[in-house]
Amino acid sequence: EWSMENYIDMEVEKIRENVGDRKVLCALSGGVDSSVVAALVHKAIGDQLICMFIDHGLLRKGEAESVMKTFGDEFDMNLVKIDAQDRFLSKLSGVSDPEQKRKIIGNEFIYVFEEEASGLKDVDFLAQGTLYTDIIESGTDTAQTIKSHHNVGGLPEDMKFDLIEPLNTLFKDEVRKVGEELGMPDEIVWRQPFPGPGLGIRVLGEITDEKLEIVRESDHILRDEIKKAGLDREIWQYFTALPDMRSVGVMGDERTYDYTVGVRAVTSIDGMTSDWARIPYDVLEKISTRIVNEVKHVNRVVYDITSKPPSTIEWE
Ligand code: XMP
Repeated sequence: EWSMENYIDMEVEKIRENVGDRKVLCALSGGVDSSVVAALVHKAIGDQLICMFIDHGLLRKGEAESVMKTFGDEFDMNLVKIDAQDRFLSKLSGVSDPEQKRKIIGNEFIYVFEEEASGLKDVDFLAQGTLYTDIIESGTDTAQTIKSHHNVGGLPEDMKFDLIEPLNTLFKDEVRKVGEELGMPDEIVWRQPFPGPGLGIRVLGEITDEKLEIVRESDHILRDEIKKAGLDREIWQYFTALPDMRSVGVMGDERTYDYTVGVRAVTSIDGMTSDWARIPYDVLEKISTRIVNEVKHVNRVVYDITSKPPSTIEWE
């Protein structure tokens, strides 16, 4: 009979049998899928699993620290952190086209991963958090690529790893159940989806340090207020984006000419379609006031009230 516990036991058994005394590498992003895969494989083979966490400089505030703490300290995993911020940001400098930005980030991710992986000895397997829906979404050749997601099939063919994809028959809600069953903290199990290219596609147009900082800080405030309002599980995804525009405002007696921050919050079942979240006005007011007061160079906050379709969830 199928149950979550049985599922875990069976997968653990399969992984052990498959891997034997060899080693497995896992690229940990801190997202739900790669986290649950890491925990599952870790349960099966312990220190034979090596996790690699690449900080591309496009993460949310506090994210890198939290990944290191949860997986390195609490789960006591074999975890390597790669600081690649400068490398990604210099490759992205001067680039404003969304698809080009995605390609650069995706490719750079692979280069960094390959370089670091090639320095590891005796690794035969790669564990990936591919879900059933990832296979459907990027699968068929008739499917149109709306935005190039780089979760599936992104690795070069000449990498000599056998893949371990223990979640590839599961949907997101089932992955969360596996995570809970494995004792992962709520913060990870209930983490909202976060795109691979990270804040890189939330700073619209060219990415600069100043703009990244604005998105990072405003996003942090938004998350804080959504959590305080108890809405963090109801809303599928919530984040801020920085359009490539400035507008006039007034602060004290002074005219300002500063950035506009866009707040995006959507409800969804699977990310394929979505509706904008009906956040109560008083919560929106707090969010707006705090962002303008606490984030430098922002004098206006707008709320995105479009559904998908015709919009997409991300702004790039
Ligand atoms: P869109 O913007 O296409 O997003 O409506 C649908 C869902 O996918 C996430 N997303 C991505 N995830 N790499 C990812 O891993 C990407 O390049 C990417 N682009 C969008 C988005 O956050 C939403 O959950």
